[in-house]
Amino acid sequence: MKFSTKAIHTGQKPDKETGAIIPPIYMTSTYIQEAPAQHKGYDYTRAGNPNFTNIEATLAALEDGKFATVFSSGLGALSGILSMLKSGDTIVGTADMYGGSYRLINRVFINFGIIFKSVNTQNLEEVETALKEKPGLIFLETPTNPLLKISDINAITDLAKKYDVLSVVDNTFATPYFQNPLNLGADMVLHSTTKYIGGHSDIVGGVVITNDAGMKEKLDFGRMAIGLNPSPFDVWLGSRGIKTLAVRMERHGRNALALARFLEKHPKVKKVYYPGLESHSNHEVAKKQMRGFSGIVSVEFDLNLEDTKKLISRFQYFSLAESLGGIESLVDHPASMTHASIPAEERKKIGLTDGLVRFSVGIEDYEDLQKDIEQAIA
Ligand SMILES: Cc1ncc(COP(=O)(O)O)c(C=O)c1O
Repeated sequence: MKFSTKAIHTGQKPDKETGAIIPPIYMTSTYIQEAPAQHKGYDYTRAGNPNFTNIEATLAALEDGKFATVFSSGLGALSGILSMLKSGDTIVGTADMYGGSYRLINRVFINFGIIFKSVNTQNLEEVETALKEKPGLIFLETPTNPLLKISDINAITDLAKKYDVLSVVDNTFATPYFQNPLNLGADMVLHSTTKYIGGHSDIVGGVVITNDAGMKEKLDFGRMAIGLNPSPFDVWLGSRGIKTLAVRMERHGRNALALARFLEKHPKVKKVYYPGLESHSNHEVAKKQMRGFSGIVSVEFDLNLEDTKKLISRFQYFSLAESLGGIESLVDHPASMTHASIPAEERKKIGLTDGLVRFSVGIEDYEDLQKDIEQAIA
C-alpha cells in the first residue's frame, strides 16, 4: 500500500454497527466490565481508547513502523521517552532544537538526575566521541527548529548501534511524507502531531513510533502512569487531518521552495535557511535522506532588530504566532517567542541570532504569499 492509501485507510475502518464511514469519537473516560478485570481491551482512557488505537495504526504505517503511542503533545511524547531513562543517564543532542524540548530536558528532567550534553550533530567525530561515553540516548531533531540544520540519520544511528545507544529522531519538520527515520536506523521517531500531521492548527498532540515491542510497552506504561494521554476528540481530529497529509505536504514544499528562492535573491535579505536550497550547508545530506524539504524557511533580513520586528508584524497572510505546520502561513521571531527558553548565550553558540525570522509557509496561493512579503518589506 502506498502513502496516501495508508493515510486514508489504515486504522480507519467504517463503524460495524452503523456503517458510518468515519469511525466515531469515543468520548468516554471508562468502559463497562463484564466481570472484574474482564473487558473488551479498554478499561480507562488514560490507559487506552479506540481512537488512540486507530490513529496509532495509521501513524505506525506512515512511518513504516510496527507500533505507535500517542500522547497529549509533542512534549508529552518526549516526556514519555525520557521517562525510560534513570538518574545519572546522559542525553546527547544538539542545542539547536525546539526551545520547549530544550527546556523540558534542561529545566525539568535535570532535576531527576538526567544530564544533557550538547554536541554538534553535523560533526560525526564529535558525535562518536560523545557516544563512546555510553549516554542513555542520542536525540536528533532534523531538520532542526529553527535553523533547519540537517543531521545524517543513517551515519549517526550506525554509530549509536556500534556503542549500543538508543537513538531518537524528532521528525516533526520533515513528516513521514518526506522522511522515515526508522528506515534510516533510528530506534524511535517522535512527532508533535500539533504541526503538519494535524495540519489545521486546531489540536495539540504527539506520537512516538518504534519497531520494538518492549519500547512500545514502556511508552504505553509511561503515558498511563504519568497521565500523558491526549483527548479522544483531539486524536479524532488528528485522524481527519492525516488523510490529506500527502497533498498538503506537496503544496507546503512547493510554496516554501519558491519563497526560499525568491528571498535568497532579495536585496533586503542577508541569509536564507532552507534545506532544499543548493546553498544550504547540509543540502547533500538532506537530498540523501529526504524526499522533499517541507514548509519551513528561516531568514535573516538585512535590517536592524527593531525594523525586523516591525516587518514581521506587517504581513497580511503570515500571522505572527507560535507553532507551524498548519494550512495557513505563520511567522515567528524565535529569539523572543518559540526559543526564548534557550539561554541567549546558548542561542549565540548555535547561530540563532536575534534577527532570525521563521516562516511556516502555508498552502495558500504562492503569488499571494510572495506579494505579502514584498508589500511588508516595501
Ligand atoms: C520540532 C518540534 N518538536 C517538538 C515540539 C513540541 O510539540 P508540542 O508543542 O506539540 O508539545 C515542537 C513544537 O513546536 C517542535 O517544533
